[in-house]
Amino acid sequence: MLDRMHELERRHLADQVDGTPFAQRLRQVPPETGRLLALMAALAPAGQMLEIGTSGGYSGMWLSLACRERGDRLVTFELAEDKVLLASETFRLAEVHDWVQIVHGNVLDHLPRYQDVAFCFLDTNRALYDAIYAALVPNLVPGGLLLVDNAISHASELAAFIQRAEQDPQLDSLILPVGKGVLVCRKKR
Ligand SMILES: C[S@@+](CC[C@H](N)C(=O)[O-])C[C@H]1O[C@@H](n2cnc3c(N)ncnc32)[C@H](O)[C@@H]1O
Repeated sequence: MLDRMHELERRHLADQVDGTPFAQRLRQVPPETGRLLALMAALAPAGQMLEIGTSGGYSGMWLSLACRERGDRLVTFELAEDKVLLASETFRLAEVHDWVQIVHGNVLDHLPRYQDVAFCFLDTNRALYDAIYAALVPNLVPGGLLLVDNAISHASELAAFIQRAEQDPQLDSLILPVGKGVLVCRKKR
């Protein structure tokens, strides 16, 4: 797993300097966010473990560490076929394919099927966040966690979404200054 993490970290850095078209870039979380994800996923209550936005499987590898420890499977959603293939290779090489299921397609077509959500990492097309929130938050179990990346790097773009979470009486929320800023929301009991 470490070898694959380092390889994707190198590719992610190269994407930013060699003019790779936006759709082909990995756009993955930095390692410190990966650590936070693994820690928070391990702390989540019992229930379904989700990730929205797989890309090359970098954050998924971190989450798989928690899932393996919990005895749970991560379900991760990805729209782009090339990313699905890349992430499949990642999970095979990291030997965590038994702990991760990739769902290929638009997350909004699949998300309503997932009830009793214990943990969700949201890191995808930000134009979808309101629709994802509406489909997801009612299905979070008490104590369930929603983590959203880019809360500081894209603060103005996400301002209305962050305000919605912070003002939602069902949730406790806080932005952690880790990586690009992670909004952490917990459903109250
Ligand atoms: C920021 S990247 C995810 C990075 C990944 N979490 C990581 O850290 O390794 C966002 C991903 O969301 C995918 N995506 C965009 N729209 C989507 C949709 N409607 N449903 C599922 N995935 C989508 C993109 O193809 C892209 O791979």
